[in-house]
Amino acid sequence: MTADDPRTVRLADYQPYSHLLDRVELTFHLHPTATRVQARLHLAPNPAARAGQDLRLDGEDLRLISCAIDGQAVAAAVDATGLTLAAAHLPQAAFVLETEVEIAPEGNFALEGLYMSNGMYCTQCEAQGFRKITYYPDRPDVMARFRVRIESDLPVLLSNGNPVGQGAGWAEWDDPWPKPSYLFALVAGDLRAHPGQFTTMEGRDVGLNIWVRPGDEGRCAWGMTALKASMAWDERVYGRAYDLDIFNIVAVDDFNMGAMENKGLNIFNSKAVLASSDTATDDDFARVEAIIAHEYFHNWTGNRITCRDWFQLCLKEGLTVFRDQQFSGDLRSHAVKRIEDVLMLRARQFREDGGPLAHAVRPDSFVEINNFYTATVYEKGAEVIGMLKRLVGDADYARALDLYFDRHDGQAATIEDWLRVFEDTTGRDLSQFKRWYTEAGTPVVSVTEDWADGVYTLTLAQTNPATPGQAVKGAKVIPVAVGLLNPNGDEVVPTTVLELTEAKQSFEFKGLASRPVASILRGFSAPVILERTVPASERAFLLAHDTDSFNRWEAGRALAKDVLARMIVDGAAPSADLLDGLARVAFDDALEPAFRALALRLPGEDDMAATLYAAGHVPDPAAIYRARRALHLALAHHLAAGLPGLELACRVPGSFSPDAKAAGLRALRLVALGFLARLDGGAQARAAYRAADNMTESFGSLAILLDIGEGRAELADFAAKWQGDRLVLDKWFAVQVGTATPERVADVVRDLTQRADFDWKNPNRFRAVIGALSGNHAGFHHASGESYALLADWLIKLDAKNPQTASRMSTAFESWPRYDVDRQAMMRGALQRIMATPGLSRDLSEMVGRMLA
Ligand code: PHE
Ligand code: ZN
Repeated sequence: MTADDPRTVRLADYQPYSHLLDRVELTFHLHPTATRVQARLHLAPNPAARAGQDLRLDGEDLRLISCAIDGQAVAAAVDATGLTLAAAHLPQAAFVLETEVEIAPEGNFALEGLYMSNGMYCTQCEAQGFRKITYYPDRPDVMARFRVRIESDLPVLLSNGNPVGQGAGWAEWDDPWPKPSYLFALVAGDLRAHPGQFTTMEGRDVGLNIWVRPGDEGRCAWGMTALKASMAWDERVYGRAYDLDIFNIVAVDDFNMGAMENKGLNIFNSKAVLASSDTATDDDFARVEAIIAHEYFHNWTGNRITCRDWFQLCLKEGLTVFRDQQFSGDLRSHAVKRIEDVLMLRARQFREDGGPLAHAVRPDSFVEINNFYTATVYEKGAEVIGMLKRLVGDADYARALDLYFDRHDGQAATIEDWLRVFEDTTGRDLSQFKRWYTEAGTPVVSVTEDWADGVYTLTLAQTNPATPGQAVKGAKVIPVAVGLLNPNGDEVVPTTVLELTEAKQSFEFKGLASRPVASILRGFSAPVILERTVPASERAFLLAHDTDSFNRWEAGRALAKDVLARMIVDGAAPSADLLDGLARVAFDDALEPAFRALALRLPGEDDMAATLYAAGHVPDPAAIYRARRALHLALAHHLAAGLPGLELACRVPGSFSPDAKAAGLRALRLVALGFLARLDGGAQARAAYRAADNMTESFGSLAILLDIGEGRAELADFAAKWQGDRLVLDKWFAVQVGTATPERVADVVRDLTQRADFDWKNPNRFRAVIGALSGNHAGFHHASGESYALLADWLIKLDAKNPQTASRMSTAFESWPRYDVDRQAMMRGALQRIMATPGLSRDLSEMVGRMLA
């Protein structure tokens, strides 16, 4: 896929580093425009590498002041990407290399390396940001112990590890655990701590802090609760304890991603850690909990065991996502969590896997590694581990993980190492399974059934579609969890895992009294597309009776998609099967409210576009928009009699609690209010807005009002109330774009971006507006092409300051092959215009190049 680009880096070219690096001493003299960084690297020739090599250090945008070996100045050859010391100048035994450089954090809007956010210094080094701080072998297989001295007048000075000394204007930190440079962090600012404490199962007292800007102290309690829960969970479930005396989390407003797992000093986008009932929705609370857990879990899966090279990124990310998903399921609801995860997987990963940006979970080449922090590496990477666990069973999974931690602690490992612990634990040969890591694309599994003489035969066939650079691929090992129900809804064959390993295989079930109804791919046991023509009545039956909650939801989902597709393509009316089936779920008090809320959420427009495209249609965004709204209205009428009662029953009494049960009730109440709004012009939603004492309900009802074209007064009220609050204001921006009609959305975006408080250099604000534009399917794909052009303009503008965020947001265009020729031409035109921009970043040029290939 990146075959012709001279900047391509390849897995096949991996070589160990020429030197071993044992210890590093860094001194920072902080200054906004002239920070001095002194580095002392304790190096020695690496016996495992080819002898006699030059010493090459990575470095970008650094001004070299001095360079010396064992105290003697040496001549270094400096170029745009690093520094070279000729082999002839290098001692044959251990030596100390000292450098001093100057950098300018204030002008750094890429938010990579050392930068400033609201007067505070902070760093972001993953994947290759450390080279913007000092000359260094900036690669994950070079692991060293760091000692850091920070000199600054700012009151709070933090780095990795344990504090070892501080005085007026300085602080020193020592991290006893060897780590790669991407886990380095430094923070300096006027910060306030929300403190906590945790005693590990090994008896270590750990001081916990969440550091925030003055004024945000009241939004830390939830994050602290989540941190303690994560620490306890990792001990209980994986036997992993924390390993330093202190664990710091810092909230920063300007951050490209969600958060970063720097050793002992996690840095968070403030959106991913701050939460209070008045400013955060239930979804925000759940996300904060999950991200805190994710970053904490990295301490073992990522930090203690890291990646040999960036091609192995899924080694830490897939596993850590898998672990955070398990954690959220344990704390909340496994059924609901699984549905949410699959919704996300399909919306982002299947979309990626089916388009021009498809790549393997472990890619074998890249131009810019930042472009591979993707749904495929993260979410599909987690799915692959879920399949492995299902195939070997829970007990062997636990044994394999123990072996992984024993064998690779302190190492920089590979996917081969990871698979070997499973092979050694179970005796299984995982060479075929490994294709999940090396081959891109979503397998399609088709199903045929046969019933004769009391034998039910299920035939499964898999096809693995071509993806960029991978025309042909082999059959995968696909665990297909299946259960059989008899016609009165009793389960006659409980969940069984069928292992599909060939292109086509049949599985027999004997001794059945009547033809069963099959529930296939229970729990979404593999990240595949199930292709099967099922009569609506059978889907309705499973929606009513399946004992597997995921497949129960899935049956309703599939039914809704079938109905919507017919409404869009043939102008059909919504079917009674669907309306009755959903009504039963809506009012079934035996079901979890959160599950009911999810079941009543209609398939999204982008999802319908993908579904229609896969079925051989050219999706019409305007028709999808109309049909989805028509179905929503039809459902509102169908449910009308029960809605007021449902809305009342879902009011949560007492003071606000963000727990899953209360959140589920609020979610279902908002679904009911959304339907009611279609019938009463928003009267109830308006009342709910006025009465709300929490952000979930005030923001939820505001969104409902805007969605039906009402709510101007509430929108103004919301703005007035939250003017000074960056995170809440992001919601205010986003909801207007998200609910704008297809005709109006470009104007809405233009108006919002002209406001003084549209700080486009702040990634959260940029995403709130420009990200919401591409999230508004019918608006983004409006036939005028205005939104395509608008997005391209903003990507070009942002790329000059922040390539990473610009590049990530360019994926809005990845779905271009789905649409009609006019839209395709306009989208490609927008991409070509971006590509022609002088000075385009490596990040954005790689992405655009792949989309145009
Ligand atoms: N490693 C971070 C995580 O998964 C994500 C990240 C990547 C953050 C690159 C910043 C930069 O949690
Ligand atoms: Zn991660």
